[in-house]
Amino acid sequence: MEGARNLTGKKSDSPLWKGRSSGMVNDIMLEMGESISLDIELFEEDIRGSKIHSEMLNKIGILSKEELQKIHTGLDQIREEIIEGQMDLRIELEDIHTHIENRLTELTGDTGKKLHTARSRNDQIALDTHLYVKKSAIQSMKSMYDLCEALLKRAEEHTDFLLPGYTHMQVAQPIRLSHHLLAHFWSFLRDFDRFHQSFQSADRLPLGSGAMAGVNYPTDRKYIQKKLNFQSIYPNSMDAVSTRDHIMDFLYASGVFMVHASRISEEIIIWNSIEFSFITLPDSLTTGSSIMPQKKNPDLAELSRGKTGRVCGNLFSLMTNLKGLPLTYNRDLQEDRFPLLDSSKQIQMTSQALTEMIRTAVFNKHNMQSSLEKGFATATDLADALVSEKNIPFREAHHIAGDLVRVCMENGCTLQTISDELRAKISPLLEDRAFFRNAIDLFKSADKKISESGTSLPRQKDQLNQAQQELSSRKEILKRNAEPS
Ligand code: ARG
Repeated sequence: MEGARNLTGKKSDSPLWKGRSSGMVNDIMLEMGESISLDIELFEEDIRGSKIHSEMLNKIGILSKEELQKIHTGLDQIREEIIEGQMDLRIELEDIHTHIENRLTELTGDTGKKLHTARSRNDQIALDTHLYVKKSAIQSMKSMYDLCEALLKRAEEHTDFLLPGYTHMQVAQPIRLSHHLLAHFWSFLRDFDRFHQSFQSADRLPLGSGAMAGVNYPTDRKYIQKKLNFQSIYPNSMDAVSTRDHIMDFLYASGVFMVHASRISEEIIIWNSIEFSFITLPDSLTTGSSIMPQKKNPDLAELSRGKTGRVCGNLFSLMTNLKGLPLTYNRDLQEDRFPLLDSSKQIQMTSQALTEMIRTAVFNKHNMQSSLEKGFATATDLADALVSEKNIPFREAHHIAGDLVRVCMENGCTLQTISDELRAKISPLLEDRAFFRNAIDLFKSADKKISESGTSLPRQKDQLNQAQQELSSRKEILKRNAEPS
């Protein structure tokens, strides 16, 4: 994992399960068994959970007030030490839980050793990942919100830019740039909802399940639920330590987001090419080539597209891990860490990159319009006009429009620039200049798409309003979950 600190390993140190075991551990056990290189990232969640767990132990009479105070002070100090990078990560201490407990015992003596009463690392790691998914889901919802807001703003600014809509990567029909940008807005808004769903999936408390059968103490799970702000509590201890549904849901939302991100990235890459030149990206979001001075590479879009495989792979990595896994805790589950932490990081970067590009791209109206002309985007409108105004069957109209396109191509002109003479030679029905200009007009073509969800100006205004309303309702969801979860 990028950013991991250096690990140290002391073969001679006794592992935490010494007692039954001789304590002699092979190097490969230490190397393969550690998860601290990844789950150091969960220290905030682990400490938060331990503080509330110790409060609960005090409430049921297992820890005295003084012991609770010592534990809290110790945990606060450990948190600072980790933030300052002062904690050595040692593979013989395996994971984040043991690192913190070990340090707490150094700081508080026997008191620290009491913290693990009525708890197992199995329900502890389950708690940590639930808290982490909730945090990451909220961050991702915020990122989706920012991206949608940027798309909506650019859409509002560009209702009077026309560009080709493509099918089969062939110029199909003129559309408003606002329409195109809003198409992406809606898919990212659905991603917001998918991340919200993963938040809800993680909003259940697993702590209190112990290793898997429950614990031998009259613990107060409701207290922990309330203090850690969980919507509900897992009713079955075996399910609670075994499930990784919350992570799968988050990884699915992440994968779908990346698929969407890769699609808009692909367009940015194409639009940024010399051949298209539909957009210009700011220098700050591009790179140059070490050999070819003319290049301005859209690396952020390429990297966003490129990371998609990795993030989708993370979902499959976890699903494959879980397939056929028997109840309850198995060490395989430790492998959930990489996909979770990696996807969480990649989607934050990708969404930020996209938002920046959308906010700052300059759209080149002229080039978009000339592609429409070069692509004969209104040939179908002409055929339709011949049917409705010149009263001929559609098949015939289609032939006339097709002949016109062929002649234009042979003569290197467009529907907009073809001469009156050439046109008249194709069909007397095309002689009527006013009729012809009207039929092939790009804006008029767009404005004929009057059906709901279409690209005409009034329908664009409706859609922009609807998008604004939907976005506001997502803001409410973010506000409701604003306090630390
Ligand atoms: N490091 C372990 C994990 O991340 C914590 C739980 C270990 N439990 C055990 N029985 N070894 O999954």
